[in-house]
Amino acid sequence: MDTVLSGIRPTGNLHLGNYFGALRNFITMQNENNCYFFIADYHSLTTHPNPKDLARNVRQVLIEYLAAGLDPEKSTIYVQSDVPEVVELYLFLNMNAYLGELERATSFKDKVRQQPQNVNAGLLTYPTLMAADILIHRATKVPVGKDQAQHLEMTRTFANRFNRMYEVDYFPEPQAYNFGKELVKIPGLNGSGKMGKSEGEGNAIYLADEPEAIRKKVMRAVTDSGPTVPNQEKPDAIKNLFQLMSIVSDPETVKFFDEQYNSCQIRYGDMKKQLAEDMIKFVQPYSEKIKEIAADEEYLKKVMLMGKEKAQASASKTIKEVREIIGFCNN
Ligand code: TRP
Repeated sequence: MDTVLSGIRPTGNLHLGNYFGALRNFITMQNENNCYFFIADYHSLTTHPNPKDLARNVRQVLIEYLAAGLDPEKSTIYVQSDVPEVVELYLFLNMNAYLGELERATSFKDKVRQQPQNVNAGLLTYPTLMAADILIHRATKVPVGKDQAQHLEMTRTFANRFNRMYEVDYFPEPQAYNFGKELVKIPGLNGSGKMGKSEGEGNAIYLADEPEAIRKKVMRAVTDSGPTVPNQEKPDAIKNLFQLMSIVSDPETVKFFDEQYNSCQIRYGDMKKQLAEDMIKFVQPYSEKIKEIAADEEYLKKVMLMGKEKAQASASKTIKEVREIIGFCNN
């Protein structure tokens, strides 16, 4: 059985892009693997969030992952800062991480460009913290998108370097967990690109959205003046609407509007109304569950404690062994 680990940035509310991009696959993954899912709150300090926002976002992501079906009985779901053993491993790994390789990381170079006024050491050593997250549980599989592939490669480098340095075969080489075909791209509502928080107000549909909010956003989605020639190719904004519809509506409905489009009779208003109602049907069970869990402080506390205990059991075992390997005599 693989030990799978995934880190989740505490970004607050989750949208359908998050759901279809990763979340839905996590739900199935947890049945076949020993899974660790954690909220990477240490990592988020690189951008200096204010304490209230940080606390709120961590809590919200936890609630929404639970509402979507992550199961604290099957998996270990925890908050990174509940397991400070990670920080000790981070320190050890930093002793063998070199300035050159850290500076060459694409994510670091991007940040230097985006925020030249805040190039802190935490940003530079982001990959060693991420490696510590993975190696602390000696995980073998890590589900990552393209943007994190280089970090995973660096984790393998750090793991191998540690093994070589101390002449042990201690850390396994973590591999990418590939969802392959199961990944569904979710477009946003503003006509371009993918659904995302940073793509502007109204572009994303959130799992916590109320029906009225969904109606408003869908009705405002970008369209055009309509087809003038039968069977003409759909521009991106229209393709996006059809793609969204194919995810939440039944195939008959999609087919109906597709035929309307192809015969130049489509009324986008009608299509959007239908899309909004089907979107609401899809989101509602999640938004209700989110409210239910958010109101149950007792349950949330219990889940956090359970995750912390399970994660610490695994992490403290690794740290004890690593200390021994390194040669600390006070174990
Ligand atoms: N860096 C990841 C991201 O930006 C989050 C993350 C932190 C992570 N630690 C991890 C992902 C360990 C996988 C494994 O999305």
